[in-house]
Amino acid sequence: MKLRFSVAGLAAIAIVAGACSSGATAAPSGAAGGGIALLLPSVDAARYEAADRPDFEAKIKELCPTVAYAYNNAGGVAATQQQQAEAAITNGAKVLVLDAQDGDAAGKIVTDAAAKGIKVISYDRLIKGGSKPDYYISFDNESVGKLQGTALLAKLTANGKAMAKVVWINGSPKDNNALLFAKGAHSALDGKVTIVPSETAMANWKPEEAQQLMEAAITSLGKDGFDAVYVANDGGAGGAYAAMKSNGVDVTTKPMTGQDAELSAVQRILLGQQYMDVYKAIKPEAEAAATLACALATGKTPDAALVNSKVNNGTIDVPSVLLVPIAITADGANGTKSIQDSVVADKFYGADSVAKICDAKVDAGLTAACAKFGVK
Ligand code: BGC
Repeated sequence: MKLRFSVAGLAAIAIVAGACSSGATAAPSGAAGGGIALLLPSVDAARYEAADRPDFEAKIKELCPTVAYAYNNAGGVAATQQQQAEAAITNGAKVLVLDAQDGDAAGKIVTDAAAKGIKVISYDRLIKGGSKPDYYISFDNESVGKLQGTALLAKLTANGKAMAKVVWINGSPKDNNALLFAKGAHSALDGKVTIVPSETAMANWKPEEAQQLMEAAITSLGKDGFDAVYVANDGGAGGAYAAMKSNGVDVTTKPMTGQDAELSAVQRILLGQQYMDVYKAIKPEAEAAATLACALATGKTPDAALVNSKVNNGTIDVPSVLLVPIAITADGANGTKSIQDSVVADKFYGADSVAKICDAKVDAGLTAACAKFGVK
């Protein structure tokens, strides 16, 4: 796989589309500063191509349009990400913005980069593996899990379910975030629910992995043998939903969690097929990364006010930017925000967010659901 930098701006961005993609134009002599490479992990969650990438690119185009830029998506394979990072370094990157497919394995990328004076921003997921990333930008991920657990418990309590039986599906153990989501959810649910038949995890955050895990849970418990589903993200919730549907489970009676406010998940929430979501506004996250990357690439000292925290990665305290996640439900009950006051207010799916959410072609019930929950 070859990857070369081209001058940033739309021309470069247009060239480097898709997983394992490669740019093709050599950096012209007029390019100012070292190159920036954005390395995203997968397409298993919609956010990466729908939000992280375009939001990041828009900001660097605004802040440092003459800096060379390249983009790669590892398609869920850590070895691919390793090659993409090596190629970026060979081709002149001075700043890597790296969302690690495997947080320990990516430590080698950081250590190799540091030896060449290249800065690494650990984007969304904390990079470990004995490494010293320059910055970490993410949400408060333990809080994400706590929001999920708290909202699920409130719903089960409102439904009169004490010690509810919860099928539990975590994210990939290779992702430090998944460990934090689980920790936060446990802090809210331990001692108050029963995990059935046992706690599981998607090996690689793939929706089909969650689907298989949910299938296995239904086989073991029977379709009425559980009260709720804790699942770490919306991709996984989509998989669990598919398994419940194909087994004839009445999903409206099984509150389920999620994360990422994916369009399909927000539609499930309006239709009563998923209880809650954790909305993480990707734009401020991607923009903070772009702001830091542009400063580092042009030899400026990043604005100290941006860096509001420190997070230990097992080796050092990494200067960090941590953003606040928000729990959302259809109606904003139980201390959550409503869909209208969160993703709609923020136009999270673009200027036509309402039309996209309430699209009756996706599900005929969405028109009535949007009216019922004031989505407009
Ligand atoms: C991200 C989530 C995402 C998951 C799967 C996590 O590291 O924080 O937003 O759903 O990875 O890609």
